Amino acid sequence: MQDKYKYMAPLYDFLAAIYSFGSIDSCKKAMVEKIHKGDQVLFAGVGHGVDAIAAAKAGGAVTVVDMSEKMLSQFNANLKKNNLDTTVIQINDNILNVQETGKYDFVFGNFFLNVFYEKDMRVIIEKLESLVKPGGYLVIGDWAHPEGNIFKRTFQNIYWVLGVTPFYLITKNAFHPIYNYPQEMTNLGLKIVEKKYFTYMGVNCFWSILGKKEQ
Ligand SMILES: C[S@@+](CC[C@H](N)C(=O)[O-])C[C@H]1O[C@@H](n2cnc3c(N)ncnc32)[C@H](O)[C@@H]1O
Repeated sequence: MQDKYKYMAPLYDFLAAIYSFGSIDSCKKAMVEKIHKGDQVLFAGVGHGVDAIAAAKAGGAVTVVDMSEKMLSQFNANLKKNNLDTTVIQINDNILNVQETGKYDFVFGNFFLNVFYEKDMRVIIEKLESLVKPGGYLVIGDWAHPEGNIFKRTFQNIYWVLGVTPFYLITKNAFHPIYNYPQEMTNLGLKIVEKKYFTYMGVNCFWSILGKKEQ
């Protein structure tokens, strides 16, 4: 399996922190407070996994999946630093190969779906939804769909392009307009329960969306 994040992995969270002044970090952890002790929680494309570590600290039984071995070693370094005494299951594979349909109380896709072109993004979001148990939740944290007046929307679009261009060039991530995740989630039958926004220079540039799968 080719590791597209080989060069980006060590720098990833540092770059996200300076690019967003910490808003990406807050966005990723935003819905962790919903987790109850013992909940089964999966993180797709976990990366360094500050969100997964927060979920494990909250008492979740955490599984993380990432195709990149280098990203998982960053995750492991982070785990070690946090001195966690719980076990986190780690899967170094494509999320599409995870066969635990309906197992999870929470499935998180933080800054994950934006790496795919639209057609693949739809296949992956459907996969994420299938891993959620009835009554469970899909959480998506990512760039917010542009809203508001023309100045705000233009600002959001330029900021997005600046953020994703290095990844388009280095990790071969997709280049596309910002996706409307609540719409995608609603199309899959999920009920949008909550949206939390995170700002950059006073503009709502990121959001975390909590979608519930009906019983
Ligand atoms: C943009 S990074 C986001 C990392 C992390 N979720 C975060 O918010 O910082 C995308 C991650 O998804 C992983 N990834 C990409 N495609 C994947 C796939 N099909 N299955 C599993 N992981 C994948 C990459 O290796 C990378 O670690």
